[in-house]
Amino acid sequence: METKRWNVNTNERKYKQSIEEAAELLKKGEAVAFPTETVYGVGADATNPAAVTKIFEAKGRPQDNPLIAHVATKEQLKRLVDDIPEYAEQLIDLFSPGPITYVLPTNGTCADNVTAGLSTVGVRIPDHPVARDLLKSCDIPIAAPSANVSGKPSPTVADHVWEDLSGKIAGLLDGGATGVGLESTVLDCTQVIPIILRPGGVTKEQLEEVVGTVMVDPALANKDEKPKAPGMKYQHYSPEVPMWLVEGSKGKIQQLIDEEQQKGNKVGVLASTKTANVLHATEILPLGENIHEIAAHLYDGLRKFKEGDVDIILCEAFSEDGIGQAVMNRLRKAATEYIKE
Ligand code: TXA
Ligand code: MG
Repeated sequence: METKRWNVNTNERKYKQSIEEAAELLKKGEAVAFPTETVYGVGADATNPAAVTKIFEAKGRPQDNPLIAHVATKEQLKRLVDDIPEYAEQLIDLFSPGPITYVLPTNGTCADNVTAGLSTVGVRIPDHPVARDLLKSCDIPIAAPSANVSGKPSPTVADHVWEDLSGKIAGLLDGGATGVGLESTVLDCTQVIPIILRPGGVTKEQLEEVVGTVMVDPALANKDEKPKAPGMKYQHYSPEVPMWLVEGSKGKIQQLIDEEQQKGNKVGVLASTKTANVLHATEILPLGENIHEIAAHLYDGLRKFKEGDVDIILCEAFSEDGIGQAVMNRLRKAATEYIKE
């Protein structure tokens, strides 16, 4: 299949036409990738099981992993679910559109392969002009996982999507780099107290300011527990070579680099700009000055180090405050080893 690629820039003359063409393909039951404020998604009509199957096939995604349904407005969101608890209403009003997904009881509007047969559905209103215009233009709920091949880091620029899915999907709307760089927070809103199933763009601290207590799925901290979000049990975000996550001083990181280099290994380093500036290794990728910049550049960093270029990646561990919780969640999953000084 030839994948049509549109370069969309909100100021561009052809913007509207490109969005309409992409929306037409979605309405016809094709899979189309588009940018959101978190990562690129690959979408299909959430009410059409045959269309949704195309996403699973293109990504090589396990069937038991449910998809998030994307909509443009709160009214559209309400058309997909049975009942919304008071606290979820409050959160939707405050954080949506935005990087958060609410898990709510499904009313059956979304196809069974969107929900993987569960009694709940994940719903999200993305906050990106291209995503919102596309959703408004096609006026159907769009099931969309991250637009990567399963197991690879999520795409934060259109070239990542192209690398993984060109030839396998009908279209790709190229809207440049996404903003947050990590996926949405997945919040279970079916219980009296909301539970974070996947940390993401909206932080636990932000949620707690509104609803008081927020729980975190214990499986996030304990590998022996079964995660409540089916997708969290899979090894994700893996780079092509082994990656050590290192919690310790710059001196400790440099010591590990030196040891590996003495063995003849080429070492790639992912670290904050401040740390990167004082380290010496084969290749060093500074991720940014602060945790927000680090989040935005993380997946590109994980994709940059290819087999052949380096033999091992050392990544600095970051503080878990705010979005740091999501950054460290992804890094722990990507790492083959965790080293503490
Ligand atoms: O930021 C995002 O959320 C991106 C963009 C494209 O919107 N999407 C995304 O989708 O990350 P995906 O499929 O890569 O991850 C969705 C996660 C998976 O871990 C899945 O298991 C979980 O959400 N999930 C979806 N529906 C669920 C449900 N009904 N119950 C529990 N977990 C659910
Ligand atoms: Mg994903």
